[in-house]
Amino acid sequence: MYTEKEIKSLFELSKSLLSRQILKDDLDVLIKVLHFHEWSYSIQNNPLISDFEYDSLYKALEKLEYDQPSIIRADSPTQRVSSDLKNDFPTVQHIIPMLSLDNSYNAEDLNDFDRQIRKLCNIEEAETIEYSVEPKFDGGSIALIYENDLLVRAATRGNGNEGEEMTANAKSMKSLPLRAEFSKLQIQKAELRGESLIRKDIFNEVNAKREEEGLPLFANPRNAATGGLRMKDANQTGERGIETFVFQFGYAVDANGKDIIPELGTHMKSLDILTQLGFKIPQQERKLCAGIDEAIAFCAEWQEKRDTYAYEIDGMVVKVNSFELQEKCGFTQHHPRWAIAYKFKAKQATSKLEKVEYQVGKIGAVTPVAKITPVQLAGVTVSSISLHNEDFIKSKDIRIGDSVLVERAGDVIPYIVKSFPELRDGTEQIIEYPKHCPVCEQVLTRIENEAVWRCTNFLCEAQVIQRMVHHISKDAMNIDGFGKSYIERFHELGWLKDISDIYNLDYDAISQLEGFGQKSADNLKSAIDIAKSNPIHRLLNSLAIHHLGKKASKVIAEKIEHVLELKTWKIEDFTNIKDIGPVVADNVSAYFRNEANIKLLERMESYGVNLHQLEVDKPKQIKDDAPLKDKTILFTGTLYQMNRKEAQLMAEEAGAKNISAVSSNLDILVVGEKAGSKLKKAEEIGTVQILTEQEFLNIING
Ligand code: IVH
Repeated sequence: MYTEKEIKSLFELSKSLLSRQILKDDLDVLIKVLHFHEWSYSIQNNPLISDFEYDSLYKALEKLEYDQPSIIRADSPTQRVSSDLKNDFPTVQHIIPMLSLDNSYNAEDLNDFDRQIRKLCNIEEAETIEYSVEPKFDGGSIALIYENDLLVRAATRGNGNEGEEMTANAKSMKSLPLRAEFSKLQIQKAELRGESLIRKDIFNEVNAKREEEGLPLFANPRNAATGGLRMKDANQTGERGIETFVFQFGYAVDANGKDIIPELGTHMKSLDILTQLGFKIPQQERKLCAGIDEAIAFCAEWQEKRDTYAYEIDGMVVKVNSFELQEKCGFTQHHPRWAIAYKFKAKQATSKLEKVEYQVGKIGAVTPVAKITPVQLAGVTVSSISLHNEDFIKSKDIRIGDSVLVERAGDVIPYIVKSFPELRDGTEQIIEYPKHCPVCEQVLTRIENEAVWRCTNFLCEAQVIQRMVHHISKDAMNIDGFGKSYIERFHELGWLKDISDIYNLDYDAISQLEGFGQKSADNLKSAIDIAKSNPIHRLLNSLAIHHLGKKASKVIAEKIEHVLELKTWKIEDFTNIKDIGPVVADNVSAYFRNEANIKLLERMESYGVNLHQLEVDKPKQIKDDAPLKDKTILFTGTLYQMNRKEAQLMAEEAGAKNISAVSSNLDILVVGEKAGSKLKKAEEIGTVQILTEQEFLNIING
């Protein structure tokens, strides 16, 4: 459809339009450029500019057309709604079209929006308009139909009029009630709008697992969610951890077909009702704002908070709260006039891959790192991005000199989404994966079924340094104020050959070093002295034994009086411990069969490092007067002051045992927000003590 030359020139044209003010004379070029990007995004599945950049061009076109409606061309991209149809699932008609949202990027845009609402509804300056503000979730949109209280259909947005039916996939999500009592509100049939998403921490876990298994990684939580939504095996949708937030009533009628939505009064109230009905609704994340200034402030607050939020959001949505006013505002072909998205700073950008460097990890994994021309992503400058492994580079066909699309989404690690082969000029170079360790020249090996190439030279300088960096890190020996730069410097001076040398440093010599002095040498000494008395679970974790992490170190530490006892342990002694698998067992056992490692630990002990089990290493004894001693407990619904895991841990520490089902064996049910069938069942049993989150906290805190 487009030749290589046209592609390059249209790309250059887009960049030039993006870098200057767009005027009426640009109309034809602008439409041409937008058509091209629609094609590369939707047909080629290969966007050449970021969403933000596309939005800016689209908005510029909207503005030109708004100023002078006579110029609107029939083929203008504003004259249609976009589509994500791919034909794999049956197509269904939406009851009412699923429109988009208009976008805003700053306070000025939101003030314009407020003025526009006043005009449409005839509201004076002095009168305050109430806005309901909530996150703009960045996942896949979904429309849910409930009929006679049952979930009967779920569909994606598709082209806005028709979507893909995926009822089975939706039904596998525990966050969606299969039954909700709409009949209590006289609602016989309702359509709800929502967004399917994956939590950021689950997304990172899913990708880490895929990386270990050598599977292609998801670029971002949105792709993992939309991919999960379209899974052929519906069960996998739920298993992947896809959840659905509901944020809007689309349609609701009684048995006579009468519209019930106006009777619900306001958007806020409608969300409260949906909460009562058991849906996952933004709670603390939404706010009723009196006037646009409060709405602007809430958007700014969330722009700051976005990274700490558990889900990926790309902005906030400001909605006129009153349904009566919404009705007055109405819709354009493209979006409701009563709502607007406030988009956060872009987290995608294009950059150039300048070179690839290779880092050697503490267990010898050689990881390629892309050095890119620095770009701003969601307010942070990014210049280094992991390329993970050889397969990743090959599957994405990334070359040195390529233009690349990079993304950094909150606490999600920066990622190269793709390269742009169509923009190559022939000077790009294929990345040759090294055959030898970049530091010690050892020939690299790749174990079957593993994605990484490893340097197997235990004495490789890079590994020695990385092991030391790991040894002093927070989760290991946690030596305050001792950073990587000190390790590199002391290693270069020949003072640190292995981790034992950390405990035998010459502080007089350190105090003489440039940039040091008596005070910093003393501080370092006291931090290292403190670490000498660490519990042995920290020491075990600090040894950089492959796959031996924090948790496994703790359970092993519980079983030994002295670290060197592990010399005599057989594989079964390890695997007999619950939570220790054969891989960890093999690796720990091999470590303690190696004489050099034993010598190292003995040296450390002679320098004063503790190798004995301390009280904190021992399994916790539950006291007789523990507040929940011998009780069984179960948590249900959404908790706000802690997450589920933390709650369970607190309960265990207070002597309780966590169980997973409601039965007559259950003593206590702690109910969070939106508790469903478990609460009902517990009430029916009658003997279960039902506590709120706060009551639970009061009990365990005495
Ligand atoms: S309201 C009729 N609220 O954004 C208005 N949309 O660009 C319907 N989205 O396809 C939209 N969070 O999937 C609304 N709190 C929220 C949202 C939200 C995410 C998505 C939605 C829609 C897209 C519009």
